[in-house]
Amino acid sequence: MLIHKFDSHKCGASKQVFCNFAANLKTMSKSPVNIALFASGNGSNVQNIVEFFHNNPVINPNLIFTNKADAFVIERAKNLNIPCIVFKPSELRDGQIIREAIQEFQIDFIVLAGFLLKIPDYLIELFPQKIINIHPALLPKFGGKGMYGDFVHQAVKDSGDTETGITVHYVNREYDEGQIIFQKKVPVLASDSPDDIAQKVHALEYEYFPKVIKDLLT
Ligand code: GRF
Repeated sequence: MLIHKFDSHKCGASKQVFCNFAANLKTMSKSPVNIALFASGNGSNVQNIVEFFHNNPVINPNLIFTNKADAFVIERAKNLNIPCIVFKPSELRDGQIIREAIQEFQIDFIVLAGFLLKIPDYLIELFPQKIINIHPALLPKFGGKGMYGDFVHQAVKDSGDTETGITVHYVNREYDEGQIIFQKKVPVLASDSPDDIAQKVHALEYEYFPKVIKDLLT
C-alpha cells in the first residue's frame, strides 16, 4: 500500500490519500461504476459496502471522503486499501479538492453513509439523482438538521413509536427531504433502549444498504 500526502501548497488543504493505484487501474479498465463514499465518523456502513462489492466487476467503491481528521473511517479506509480524502468543512463548500478528487478517481455516483455536513449545491448539480443517503429512521419522521445517530434513536424512543427503520433517499438541497428510494421497518419494543434501537437499525443498514445500491446501479 502506498501512502500519499499532498502538501497544502499544491492542493490547498491537508489531504491524505491511501492508495493502491495498481488495483484501481485494473478495475477502472473495465469501466465499472465508481462510487465515492462520504462518512463523518465510525464508517461501519462504508466498510460493509466496500466489502459487499469486493471484486464486483460493475460496481467499484474506489474513494472515501471524510470531514473529520480523527474519524475511524480513515482507519477502515487504510485497512480496506481504499483512498481516503480528509477535508475541512470550508473545503467542502469551496469545492476545489472535492472536484479534483472526483475527476481523478472518475467518480460516477456518491453514497453518504453517516456523513453529517450538508451537501453543497455544486455537488448536487454535478451529480443529479446520483447522490444517495441513508437515514436511520423512517423519513419523513425524525429527519432534518441535527437528527443523526443517537439523537434519532432517542427521539424514536421518546415518541413511543412501535416501529422504526431505515430510509435510503436521493439527496437534494434540504436535509433528509430527497425522494425516498427504499424503506425497511423494524419493531420497537417498550423495553428497547435507544442503544437497542440503534443495534436493530444498524442490522437493517448492513443487510439492505448495499443491496439497494446494487439495485440502483445494475
Ligand atoms: C448510520 O446509522 C447511518 O444511518 C447514519 O449514520 C450512521 C453511521 O454509522 N446516517 P456508521 O458510521 O456507518 O457506523
